[in-house]
Amino acid sequence: MCRRFLVAGYVAAAILVIEVGSATAQDAIKIGVVIPMTGAFAPVGREVAAGAKLYIQQHGDTVAGQKIELIIRDDAGVPDNGKRLTQELIVKERVSFLGAGITPTAMAMAPLVTEGKVATVVMISGTSVVTERSPYYVRTSFTLGQQSGIIADWAIQNGSKKAVCILSDWAPGTEAGKVFEQHFTKGGGQVLDTLRVPLANPDFAPFLQRARDLQPDTLFVFVPAGQAGTLARQYAERGLAKSGIRLVGPGDIVDDDDLPGTGDTFLGVVTAGFYSAAHASQTNKDYVAAYAKATGHRANLISVGGYDGMHLIYQALEKTNGKTDADAVIAAMKGMKWESPRGPISIDPRTRDIVQNIYIRKVEKVNGEPWAMEFATFEAVKDPLKEAEAQ
Ligand code: PHB
Repeated sequence: MCRRFLVAGYVAAAILVIEVGSATAQDAIKIGVVIPMTGAFAPVGREVAAGAKLYIQQHGDTVAGQKIELIIRDDAGVPDNGKRLTQELIVKERVSFLGAGITPTAMAMAPLVTEGKVATVVMISGTSVVTERSPYYVRTSFTLGQQSGIIADWAIQNGSKKAVCILSDWAPGTEAGKVFEQHFTKGGGQVLDTLRVPLANPDFAPFLQRARDLQPDTLFVFVPAGQAGTLARQYAERGLAKSGIRLVGPGDIVDDDDLPGTGDTFLGVVTAGFYSAAHASQTNKDYVAAYAKATGHRANLISVGGYDGMHLIYQALEKTNGKTDADAVIAAMKGMKWESPRGPISIDPRTRDIVQNIYIRKVEKVNGEPWAMEFATFEAVKDPLKEAEAQ
């Protein structure tokens, strides 16, 4: 009697396992992306979402025999919203992957990602430390350090001696300023002052005026994508475009989303960046054309984080034969290499951070519109802050 009961129990358990197994095989693999679709950072969220959707449109919504479902949640740029939405995506939606957006939300999400064991692609944040906050974070965006050291070296080599930094006052700005100053002073330059501009609704005018009064030969500026248009307008109004002071920065200040509307203001401005819509590869030409068709505007540096983020997830699923176990997925992602619209990129197996080319670019008018034209390439650049730590 007792044995019959036990056997029946085993059979029931086996049936349950088969049912659970086949249910997950049929269910879509859900990818929950937590990004700002409203509020001050809406332009950034919109670009990354458009990049991710374009990838799915081009490559289909089936990977390794399983359907993919993209779920976009709007954190409005507020970390507490991001935490709540992440919790819901993990517990209620049972997502297999997450996408993380801007730095403050990515920081807030990290403990939930770790506890829930969900492979998470960081698609926007540019702050070095973010990927260290969870072993399940892998980045397809960029770091500010990757760009800021290279532009400091370029400025020194081209005669800059005295700089003023104007930085958007949050973690990526601090990082951009820190790496710029390290390289600039190492090269014999002097940073006269560092001015911090509030992140929300920025008014650059008083800071630009203060910077000008200090009489530097160079201005290093970081503002996040979405604020370049305002910066350009106030820069022109203050007469800085004609002041003889050299403006440099990471690619964000000549964001392709805003650049077409900046007229002649930024012509001649040199930046170090990982993506320009003018990048001359066929992969990029196809991307820019498809992106313009889908959205009506130019692809920018933020969009490729979403596009490449989806590529990373698709390729990892191919490698794991559709298995979504976070440890297996992260192992599959480590060391992965591919051709992005921005050029060749890979995932550093040690840090899970992106390795990518950094290009020196000059804004020039081509066919009546300003574009960041690449003229020098630094290949396979890692995040310098993590490299310095590892020494
Ligand atoms: C960030 O969230 O770290 C971030 C967002 C937009 C940028 C740069 C950094 O342009």
